[in-house]
Parts: sequence; C-alpha cells; structure tokens
Amino acid sequence: MSVITHVFARRVWDSRGHPTVEAAIRLDSGVIGRGIAPAGASRGAHEAADLRDGGTRLAGMDVSKAVDNVNRLIAPAIIGLPILDQFTIDERLIALDPSPRKEHLGGNATVAVSLAAIHAAAASQGRPLWQHISETYNRIPRIPLPQIQIFGAGTTDAGHRLDIQDLMVMVPGAKDFDEVLEVTCEIYLAAGELLSWRGERTGVTDEGGHWPAFDSNEQAIELLTLAIQKAGEKPGARVVIAIDMAASRLGTRDAYRLDLDQRNLDTAAMLDLMGRWIEAYPITSIEDPLSEDDTEGWMEFNRRFGGQVQVVGDDYLATNAKRVQEAARDRACNALLLTVGQAGTLTEALGAYHSAEAQGWRTIVSARSGESEDVTVSHLATGLGCGQLKVGSFTRSERVAKWNECLRIQDELGTSAFAGAEPLERASTHERGTNQHETT
Ligand code: PGA
Ligand code: ZN
Repeated sequence: MSVITHVFARRVWDSRGHPTVEAAIRLDSGVIGRGIAPAGASRGAHEAADLRDGGTRLAGMDVSKAVDNVNRLIAPAIIGLPILDQFTIDERLIALDPSPRKEHLGGNATVAVSLAAIHAAAASQGRPLWQHISETYNRIPRIPLPQIQIFGAGTTDAGHRLDIQDLMVMVPGAKDFDEVLEVTCEIYLAAGELLSWRGERTGVTDEGGHWPAFDSNEQAIELLTLAIQKAGEKPGARVVIAIDMAASRLGTRDAYRLDLDQRNLDTAAMLDLMGRWIEAYPITSIEDPLSEDDTEGWMEFNRRFGGQVQVVGDDYLATNAKRVQEAARDRACNALLLTVGQAGTLTEALGAYHSAEAQGWRTIVSARSGESEDVTVSHLATGLGCGQLKVGSFTRSERVAKWNECLRIQDELGTSAFAGAEPLERASTHERGTNQHETT
C-alpha cells in the first residue's frame, strides 16, 4: 500500500481574492493529491477555527501561520502513514490539536491536508474520487440534486441588500443533472431580465447570484417565483424554492432584525413570517431559520414546519456529530448541511453525516462562500450518495466548476444515478412520527 512521503502547503488565493491554504501530499509511488481550504463569511460559533495571521497586512487575513503549521507540525506527524487509512491520518491531525475548534493548527490547515489525503488515496487506486469515496465508505453513489442560488444577500463586508442570505432553486422534477442546469439557466436569465426591467439589478454576489435592490425580503421570494414562471415552469411542479436565512447574522433568540423590512422580530414573529412564506410560495427547504443559540425556536420551527420543508442546520450544527445528536434529541431540525471545513477533517465530517443518517435525516453537501477551483464537494456528494449539493449560483467559475464536474461524473455513472426528487421525499422516521402524532 502506498505511503505518504511528502506533505507540503502553500498559500493560494480564493474566489474573493483572499489568501487560503493549499496542501499537497505525495506518495512513494509519485502520486500527488491536493486540497484547498474553502472559507466562510457567515461562520458558525461552533465550527473549526479559520487561522489567520491578524495584523494589518492583507487585512489580517494572511495564512502564513496555517501554512507553516502544515509544513512544520503536520507533515512529520503523517509522513509514513498508509494513504488508504484516512481515519488514522485524520486522527493524527486531531491529536496534534485537541482544542475543540482547532484554534492552534487552524481548521484551514487540517481541512486542506485531510482533503489532499483523500485525493491522493483515490489517485493511488487509479479511481475517480467519487468512486473511491463510495467504495471506501460503502455507499451507493448518486448524482446529487443541487440547490442553486438565484438571488443572494451579498457578504457582510459589502453590506446586505437582502436579509435572506440565499434564494435558490431546486429542480427535483428533472430527469438528469443536465436538465437541472438547463432549467436553472433559464430561471437565472429570466430573473436577470425581470431585475433589469424593474431597475433592481445591481450586480452579483460572492456566490454568483443576482444581487438585487429590493424593498422587502418577501419581494425577493415573489420575484423568484415570477422568474420561475417566466422561464416557462409552474412553481412547485418541476421547480421548487430553497432558502438560507443564515439567521445567526440576523440576531439572537427573540431579538432578530430584518433591515430591509425595517422590522424587529422576536422568535415567534420569525416563525409566523416564515410560516406565511411556506404557505404562499413553493418552498421546500429552509436553512438556519433561527440563530444558533435559539434552540427552543428551532424545536418549535421543526415541530410546526418539519413535515412540510427540510429544516437544515448549517451554523446550527457546524458539521459536528455531537451537535447533530443533540439536535436530534431536541428534534430541532431534520437535515444536515455538511461542510468538511466546519468539521476540520473528512473523518469528523463523516461522523456528523453518519449521525444525521442514523436519524433518517437528509444531508446536503455544501461548498462555502469563499471557494476555489477545488471540486471535491461534487465527488463527496456523489460518492456518499447523500442526494443533495449546494455550491452557490450558476455563474463564476469556482461555482460552475462544481456543476460541470457533476456533468462529467454523470457521464461516467449514467443518468439513472441522478437522485432527482428522491432526497426530498425521503422523510425521516423521526419526522413521520412527529407528523403522525400531530395529525392524530
Ligand atoms: P459561508 O455561508 O460559507 O459564508 O459560511 C454559506 C452558507 O451559509 O450556506
Ligand atoms: Zn447556510
């Protein structure tokens, strides 16, 4: 079995033009695998730390400490390990920095190495990454159903024009991945035309979606519904809507602020507002509807709406197995947003995945708002067969690279492997139990 002979990190640049960490692992056979750390803008309090140098140079965002940690501390700890033993490689990373959020090594250092390792392992077997993941973790590969951003809020630095972070479409009625992208393209174009006519077109977000100038948040959902119609689709038939509130940015328990609507809301008012949206529009998925400290709000949200929509924990779960188990105990959500960078290693992210799956939850593999040419997420979603993938919009190459990779994988796997509507129909036993209880 091939063993690791070299580990090397360098500073590269992400889709926002910010520095990030790339790690490369070379094996005795000469095979090389690489991984690039993505970066979040709306980061959860419980996710692995993003180690930045601080100070004034590059606005404090340089990653020389994280790069150095890979070259000086991580390299000697994993050189000599067999590359097919991802678990032991990740365990070494965890042992080097047992702090809960990897503050010392940096989650950006560990994730780059962990992803480089799985790439090197796949290459050492002469297999595409999706296949290596599906065989290693004994999963049935599925081409994921994507959530694709049409409108976005912009980043914190740029100032929000919308309070809802992501307004996305899903095309569960498509026959294959190619059709998903074709329908999405029509909707993206239709949304752009509508914005131009109405004088609301202002640019694109970090993740490539339209960045509109609306008067209210509901107007955004309304316009997305109109764009779906303008593209020749019946909203709620082949195409549905997913939103990410990223509500930790909007406040805390019982104290939320929707700037665009000029409203302060307590938790109950947030629930009523989103309940109205769920009634009025074809919404099937809501991510982070409440802030990460509002557990009682989440429980109530899931009790009221968990039977109608996916209740997705991103910042709330932070791709953390323990937090998934606690949320399952509390019945606070019914789906996991899986971001390897939040966990810090692939093995820990898979721990969260297995915990979610044990509850019958759905999982959406996700990229981050700061991305690169790295297309690992397309392979991870397919190889795990988890059914859904979220990478941002339909423009900007760091986004489109992931969609295009899914097309290539579909050519290898065949269109029958496309997940279609199945991930949305896979209601958990837990969820069914709750609903039956409510309706009897
Ligand atoms: P982030 O946001 O990558 O900036 O954390 C993505 C999301 O909230 O889904
Ligand atoms: Zn999110």
